[in-house]
Amino acid sequence: MATEKGTEAAAEAQLRYFDKSWQRTSLCGEFGPEDAGKDVRANGWVRARRDLGGIIFVEVWDYSGPIQVVFNPEAPGSCRERPGESIHDKAGDLRSEYCIAVKGRLRIRPEGTENPALKTGSVEIVASDLLVLSPALPLPFEVGEGTDKVDENLRLTYRYLDLRRERMQKNLRTRSQINAYTRQYLGERGFVELETPVLTKATPEGARDYLVPSRVNPGTCYALPQSPQLFKQILMVSGFDRYYQIARCFRDEDLRADRQPEFTQVDLEMSYVVEDDIMELIEGYMKGLFKEILDVDIPTPFQRMPYWEAMDRFGSDKPDLRVSLELCDVAPVFASSSFEPFRKVLEAGGVVRALRLPGGAALSRKELMDLEARAKKFGASGLANFLFKDGALKGPLVKFLTGEELDRLRELSRMEEGDALFLLADASRAKACTILGVLRLELGKARGFFNEGTGADAWRFLWVTRFPLFEWSEEEKRWVAMHHPFTSPVLEEGDLMERDPGKALARAYDCVLNGNEVGGGSIRIHDPDVQARLFKCLGISPEEAKRRFGFFLNALSYGTPPHGGLALGVDRLVMLLCGGQSIRDVMAFPKTQKAQCLLSQAPDTVEASRLDELRIAVVPPEDE
Ligand code: AMO
Repeated sequence: MATEKGTEAAAEAQLRYFDKSWQRTSLCGEFGPEDAGKDVRANGWVRARRDLGGIIFVEVWDYSGPIQVVFNPEAPGSCRERPGESIHDKAGDLRSEYCIAVKGRLRIRPEGTENPALKTGSVEIVASDLLVLSPALPLPFEVGEGTDKVDENLRLTYRYLDLRRERMQKNLRTRSQINAYTRQYLGERGFVELETPVLTKATPEGARDYLVPSRVNPGTCYALPQSPQLFKQILMVSGFDRYYQIARCFRDEDLRADRQPEFTQVDLEMSYVVEDDIMELIEGYMKGLFKEILDVDIPTPFQRMPYWEAMDRFGSDKPDLRVSLELCDVAPVFASSSFEPFRKVLEAGGVVRALRLPGGAALSRKELMDLEARAKKFGASGLANFLFKDGALKGPLVKFLTGEELDRLRELSRMEEGDALFLLADASRAKACTILGVLRLELGKARGFFNEGTGADAWRFLWVTRFPLFEWSEEEKRWVAMHHPFTSPVLEEGDLMERDPGKALARAYDCVLNGNEVGGGSIRIHDPDVQARLFKCLGISPEEAKRRFGFFLNALSYGTPPHGGLALGVDRLVMLLCGGQSIRDVMAFPKTQKAQCLLSQAPDTVEASRLDELRIAVVPPEDE
């Protein structure tokens, strides 16, 4: 019985045998009227089948699009799989996503049956033979468009089907085109493509590392690189001068729509350069890229803005310049006012910042309260407001201000009749600005202060420069590097990093596009003495520095050229160029918010013997 079944299966497989005689003569979407009258072959997936009065129409698809295939009841030829049965009968059994090969004659569609919406809408294949290469199980979701409404987890579980869709095909093909462009652009400019290790030592980008235990060195781990940062700097010491890599990076951090645990960077580094050189290189790259992919001429050079200007005006270090609202500083109004809460914050070195919303005086009480609740959700202690109505400022704080102070407030905020002003006081300038920055985006988009733009206007690039060198970590109670600890301080500031670390600035820059950080980089420290000073400011002892980065510090001591570089987030860039909302849509096999691959079910438990070999003991989670 088993043998009989085996023989049957073997015979069936033989009948599905794909040889040259079945191989397509054209991609489905590329059949055209010029082929009319020719014998042709198509290979692809069945996506729509209609039975009209005995005539069966099937759309056969591949990535290039569909071709209509017609099966007439009187079609010649019998079916290979089931002798005696016509291919018309066989076509009646076709189901969605069956993979098939068809032979037939291409013809111009009869008048009145053309479909101008399709590239191949003027032609069709009249089938003379049909081979089912591989049937498909009932589908978990329709593969045709409209699949965006399907639960994303289902799409990720059946990613191979999801990727068959036109949009995903387009996204990933665009991604490949971008990579090809990158290689060409950088190759033409003397950049050398080099690979750096994936099994390596912890790098200092600030997220958690993914660790890989070493079997041959029990008790030790490699770290997967958060970026090739140290190796690319070492390549400068080695004389490669201009390096790049389309590099996979790994960061164990909380995920969002624009963050994945493994992602791709165009990572590059150059010797003997200053900020302008890197920025000009990237501006040229973007100009060529947008021309090639979208046929848009983006203007260069990009606007540049120091970090604190971006924070003060837009409440973000990656401002979306398509939103026209701006923040303002209203401290002078409250510095000596009788409104004690704000005055005290200012006396203690804090700030009072405000956001003007034109037309906002019409907001209801509930809307104002909701807005305050939003601000509190992001950590504000409150959100005060003034409404400019009937020629005067109204609001709970009016009684605390003199006429002069109210005039000053109007002047500083440029409030006009009908406007609202939202104010926030906080000990931290960055925090106050950031919270108002979130409201700026939300209100701007919801209330008509968002200009999406067309053509080149739809792409608002910006360099944010001169980031703070350090930021204070409440968790660790120490200064940490805002970019990474190899970023050069602005040396004209002398010993500011020692005297007043919070004020010291870095030679770092981010490339921002429509409110997204698409790249970041810096001029590096190439002087071991400056590097030692910086570690000291970070509270990293010489011993610890030696242990963690000794190999790198040694390298710096052997004649290091001044150098700098940057890394572009490929996934984010591709997402923006494809008009997507999430980087998951431009990655073939992304992970979920819980860092799982639903397709392969990674991460997975490991057999005890493998763990023993690695000398690892697992402590089960408490709820097990
Ligand atoms: P940075 O950490 O700023 O710099 O990263 C560079 C760019 O990589 C992208 N990116 C990410 N994309 C998707 N998922 C993530 N989890 C993720 N994290 C970062 C962003 C970001 O702008 N070594 C430095 C570069 C340098 O100094 O040359 C670095 O990695 O688009």
